[in-house]
Amino acid sequence: MNRYTEPKYRTINDAKENELDQLQAKSTSSTWKPAYHIHPGYGLMNDPNGLAYFNGEFHVFYQWYPFGPTHGMKHWAHVKSTDLIDWKRLPTAIVPVEDYESHGAYSGASIEVDGELYLYYTGNIKYSAEERSANQCLAIMDKDGAIRKYEQNPIIEGVPEGYTGHVRDPKVFKKNDTYYMLLGAQRSNLTGAIIVYESSNARDWSFKGELDLDLNLPDTCYMLECPDYFELNGQDVLVVSPQGLEPEEHAYQNLYNVIYVLGELDIENLTFKVESHHELDKGFDFYAPQTFEGKNKERLLFGWAGMGEMDYPSDKEGWAHCLTIPRKLDIVDGRLIQKPARELEKLRAEPAKGEFSLSQGSTEIGAASYQYELELSLESIESEIFGLRLFSSETEGLVLEFNRSEQTVTLNRENFAETFGGEYGFERSSKLEIGDKVDMQIFVDRSIVEIFINGGELVFTSRVFPHKESTGINVVADGKMNVNYKSYPMSCRNSL
Ligand code: FRU
Repeated sequence: MNRYTEPKYRTINDAKENELDQLQAKSTSSTWKPAYHIHPGYGLMNDPNGLAYFNGEFHVFYQWYPFGPTHGMKHWAHVKSTDLIDWKRLPTAIVPVEDYESHGAYSGASIEVDGELYLYYTGNIKYSAEERSANQCLAIMDKDGAIRKYEQNPIIEGVPEGYTGHVRDPKVFKKNDTYYMLLGAQRSNLTGAIIVYESSNARDWSFKGELDLDLNLPDTCYMLECPDYFELNGQDVLVVSPQGLEPEEHAYQNLYNVIYVLGELDIENLTFKVESHHELDKGFDFYAPQTFEGKNKERLLFGWAGMGEMDYPSDKEGWAHCLTIPRKLDIVDGRLIQKPARELEKLRAEPAKGEFSLSQGSTEIGAASYQYELELSLESIESEIFGLRLFSSETEGLVLEFNRSEQTVTLNRENFAETFGGEYGFERSSKLEIGDKVDMQIFVDRSIVEIFINGGELVFTSRVFPHKESTGINVVADGKMNVNYKSYPMSCRNSL
């Protein structure tokens, strides 16, 4: 087989002497590196992979290219924790050195089988710059944490008829003694689909067919990446990352987007009856999330706080991207709600608190810190237009603006010296029912902000790369409202 190779397609095993230390040293001095968010030591991180609470520990794997902030040869990096906040780096879990994964160990998920953690991933194959194929592969982590590649890899060789080489991101789950694998796929007519394999032992797989998902996705949708499936409060939930959706006035404004679908899955008959679907996150940088079952059987989610095909300001420091904080999912009134995992409260230090009423103008509530959590409630709102300016200084600021007459909320990140991604616009917006009260829980960590509105009904995840002195928080209104806040400095317990 004549495989396409490029010099940049090196694995970590080919690192030259001191090369990795130099990469680490270059990115260590960065002022933008998050403290309490999972991030790469150096190189580029993208999707979270293989998430699990296994044998008393949380495991997070992620897509990683060690040699620079580019989407090169992907490895699976690995961190673990006993409490979701105190993360520790482990040796690279999957290094793509085999022929069946010649161009990277792409994304996938995990499931516990007979006391071991099965890590499914896609062996990416490129024959030329345009031609590719995909193998589905398995690595197994035993209860002592040792990871080995399955000796009979690949477990699925190539792609089924009717699909292009874009078949990837296995998600495995078990129903009635049968294991099912969902894969993101592209049909030969270049539209996106989800295909299904089945197995009785989680190792030998046979093709079952395509999932009939009556989502009415437009023909412009050319790929569905990273399918995830779970049951929550008696409902079936599918989370998927479609590519090629057209932007709408208040939705799908990123190059790639993420949707969740509520409904009913009949996996035997390959149907998913859709009750509703919505965009999962409204910010600029959120893609390829995965969920897993936590310690108390709750459903937790991590997303990649990044976007493909875009340069980020931290690239020049030799690293790119981070994950979101862990979020606990719930379904309320037919909507998927995301809340910060409770464990994060352990990072809080004594808060600065205050209460005041604002009649018109702007009041600084001051954070004077680069990593904090802000709880804010706005009450008795008589203002039409009100909101916040975060990372604020004389010259910079991230603007969150609520508009009551339009019932919208908008995030604007244009006002920074280090702007990026402008080709996709500097504003993201959403519809929101705005009455006389709005609650927010905001997590700021140097270059990432996650804004949870009204108990997680709406979330904006975004990266910003501010000057060091841009740490202010301003509350702004064109009319009256009461403001109540607590701002907690957040400590960092991980050793990333
Ligand atoms: C999503 C994705 C996946 C793929 C991985 C490669 O961001 O494109 O479909 O497996 O990234 O890094």
